Amino acid sequence: MYTMEELKKYCLKCHKCRLASTRTNVVFGEGNENAVIMFVGEGPGYYEDVQGRPFVGKAGQLLDKMIEAIKLKRSDVYITNIVKCRPPENRNPLDDECVSCLEYLRWQVKLINPKIIVCLGAVSAKNLINQDFRISKQRGQFVKKGNFYFMPTYHPSYLLRNEFAKKDAWEDFKNIAAKLDD
Ligand code: URA
Repeated sequence: MYTMEELKKYCLKCHKCRLASTRTNVVFGEGNENAVIMFVGEGPGYYEDVQGRPFVGKAGQLLDKMIEAIKLKRSDVYITNIVKCRPPENRNPLDDECVSCLEYLRWQVKLINPKIIVCLGAVSAKNLINQDFRISKQRGQFVKKGNFYFMPTYHPSYLLRNEFAKKDAWEDFKNIAAKLDD
């Protein structure tokens, strides 16, 4: 078993896939290591790559607001991504890049042992729930796997482009808040 610090040290030196050659910084993830909720996005964008922190751009600001809307602070939760390095031009991560990187996420989940894992967007839901997951059709229902409740919902970047979807995302967040209490 690694500590989070050891895992991070190892991850920051990772060269398991091609994304290592174009990244500025590895974006390992951050937050409360005793969090009850983990948020898992897709992969770092421009600002995340520059700062080495997850969800610090426009999508991150919306995520912060959504977290605050359920009466939590960013520092209460843990936030990370499926891939820890920015894909060039913000393309979707390729399957082999996700597979190489998922080992880090598995350790993070093991160490944090949250109750709820929120999958932000299709890439996250496909990698964590099932490969055929359709976010537009299947979001909003908890999927229990092992000890964890997975909640697939829209990615905040999608919500920035599609205002109409915010209503559904708000329902999902209310259900997340209710699950915390039961
Ligand atoms: N989008 C993601 O999926 N992750 C981030 O960290 C930022 C934007």
